[in-house]
Amino acid sequence: MTAEKKQLDWGSLGFSYIKTDYRFRARWSEGHWQPGELVDSEIMEVHEGSPVLHYAQACFEGLKAQTSPDGRILLFRPELNCQRMAQTAERLVMPEVPEALFMQGITECIRANKAWVPPSGSGASLYVRPFLIGLGENLGLRPAPEYEFRVFVAPVGPYYKSGGLSLISLAVTDVDRAAPKGTGRFKAGANYAGGLMATQLANQLGANEALYLDAGERRFLEEAGSANIFLVMKNGKFVVPESESILPGVTRRSILTLAEDRLGLEVERRPVDLRNEIENIDEFGACGTAAVISPVGKVFIDEHWHHFFGDGEEIGPVTEQLYDVLTRLQKGEEPDSYGWTIEV
Ligand SMILES: Cc1ncc(COP(=O)(O)O)c(C=O)c1O
Repeated sequence: MTAEKKQLDWGSLGFSYIKTDYRFRARWSEGHWQPGELVDSEIMEVHEGSPVLHYAQACFEGLKAQTSPDGRILLFRPELNCQRMAQTAERLVMPEVPEALFMQGITECIRANKAWVPPSGSGASLYVRPFLIGLGENLGLRPAPEYEFRVFVAPVGPYYKSGGLSLISLAVTDVDRAAPKGTGRFKAGANYAGGLMATQLANQLGANEALYLDAGERRFLEEAGSANIFLVMKNGKFVVPESESILPGVTRRSILTLAEDRLGLEVERRPVDLRNEIENIDEFGACGTAAVISPVGKVFIDEHWHHFFGDGEEIGPVTEQLYDVLTRLQKGEEPDSYGWTIEV
């Protein structure tokens, strides 16, 4: 376990899998979690009948570790990822990963791969991917007899090809993501398989990512394929769309606090009828662990592109300030009065 940094061109990393040295795994069987361990092989051997393979009994989380200017490795609100994984597990009839095991898994995996944690100021971070899958001999539709909780990490750069704080575009397609009482507000792997086609259609339209409206009426704004949405209205209000079928993002929750506390904005969480309100939107943005804060310059809807702030070619001031405040906190570049960052 050498702590000497890997020789990577940190500044040119994209969002891709890179094999690091260790991963953490723990098995659940006969009603109990067994002790977890670090392993070096990235290959998993699983039974062909495993419910994860047929019935998508799988969920995951995503968070980032970043190096502060004084060399500490920081996680951002990992307890919220743990809580969300527990909620998802319950919805998918899987055993909950106890907080102690979740934290052990992510911290041991990060420490063991310290050489892969991007240095402060590199613009890169270490993406942490905890996941939980249903394994074992099975055929009928029932919960798995065994589970594995596993964590791997990979150094990453910006999620969207445009990189850093730069403009992206989204497209509304005719593919829905999540039904009101379905699994949309949980981080179930199946949600993402169902979204691949929308992403593909959006990409064909020249957009970075799909934008979803509610599946019931196809009117209300939901979220993007891998990020939540925030809006700055022309009246100055900061709005996040409310819906029971969107992922409750850690980033969204955090920027709601920051918009109110640090930017002094009036914030609202409410349903947003996109077509009715589109002319009143000044800044349109996407937010998430991978997306960080991504200004959305234009959205494709009803066969045409709608442009936002500065004809879709400029980044709005609120988006820019939020990016600044959030990323400085996450990277430990300013004191964290919220207690959101945790040292690994
Ligand atoms: C569908 C979806 N919505 C929203 C988010 C944002 O959630 P978070 O801020 O917790 O990363 C993600 C993940 O990044 C996501 O996959």
